[in-house]
Amino acid sequence: EKGNHRHFMEKEIHEQPEVIGRTVSHYVDAFENGVHEIAGLDFRSASRLIIVGCGTAAYAGEISRYWFGSLARLAVEVDIASEFRYRDPVFLPGDIALFISQSGETADTLEAMRLAASAGVQTLALVNTAHSTIAREASLVVPTLAGPEIGVASTKAFTCQLSALACLAVLAGRHRGHLDRAQEAGHVASLLASPGLMVKALEREDEIEQLAHEIAGHETVLYLGRNQNFPLALEAALKLKEISYIHAEGYAAGELKHGPIALIEEGLPVIVIAPHDALFDKTRSSIQQVASRGAHVIAITDPEGAHALEGEAARIITLPKGGQLTDPLLFASAVQLLAYHVAVYKGTDVDQPRNLAKSVTVE
Ligand code: F6R
Repeated sequence: EKGNHRHFMEKEIHEQPEVIGRTVSHYVDAFENGVHEIAGLDFRSASRLIIVGCGTAAYAGEISRYWFGSLARLAVEVDIASEFRYRDPVFLPGDIALFISQSGETADTLEAMRLAASAGVQTLALVNTAHSTIAREASLVVPTLAGPEIGVASTKAFTCQLSALACLAVLAGRHRGHLDRAQEAGHVASLLASPGLMVKALEREDEIEQLAHEIAGHETVLYLGRNQNFPLALEAALKLKEISYIHAEGYAAGELKHGPIALIEEGLPVIVIAPHDALFDKTRSSIQQVASRGAHVIAITDPEGAHALEGEAARIITLPKGGQLTDPLLFASAVQLLAYHVAVYKGTDVDQPRNLAKSVTVE
């Protein structure tokens, strides 16, 4: 039931603080500020983590690559299932393969998992639907606890995937000796704080709705991000495309000069995910480059970033200060709201966008 909400998507966006909290609680011990061991999962001798999914699930995997790399020094290869399964992928001794799927029924993801299993690789399934085919066939299930997701555009399943992946990256970091107790406790504390921060992020909805009205008439929108916010920019563009039918593209900010900057013209909306992190100055210089060519820059940032970007970005959405593992959760909620309000304003069918099905059981 939609309750007070106009659409399931709106309801599911607002459920996120609760369901990411539930998902994090499943993986962590809040008293010890540590991540639980998972029977049958050992990252110590892993040589590589292969992550496979489709669409939004694959983007969650892409974001987590940055975490497994920096927290656990674990090499990660991420692929979309339809490419992975047909490219005769190379499996190496010590590979672990993780398949991400909300529905647990996506045909390409399932076949990719069967391929890895037949090569003798341990298969983990990060799924939201416990009784699904992917869950049943995997050697180990790591759940997301988002509850049923009805809106075709994935929202809460995505942020629950990110929450679970963050916990797995912390576990891998401990297993591989790259996180000490204090560092692990710091990461866990920040994950436990993420629901509260997301409540604050969602309070920006009225401002985001105003911005949505500004961009609803445009034919193209660009999203830029760096580091872990690059795949988030891809996800943001996918969300806008799916439900508002506006052509949107995500780019790594550092790629601008290698092509996409040619697209910049007067008034083009460019949405930049710009937390005040170690790469802020680089993102800021991308903002300056596109703004000086006439782009209408909308920066999504934190209080420190907002201060620094005053006068440089045409619009600034200020979210609470997050961290490495929590920023993508907060930025996700903002870009979901933006896509949602553009679609509502345009009058498209938000929960049932044209040509799309919730579960893609044929390739
Ligand atoms: C995007 C979206 C799709 C799914 C993709 C994978 O909003 O919903 O891109 O993420 O079809 O679906 P699952 O996760 O069910 O395997």
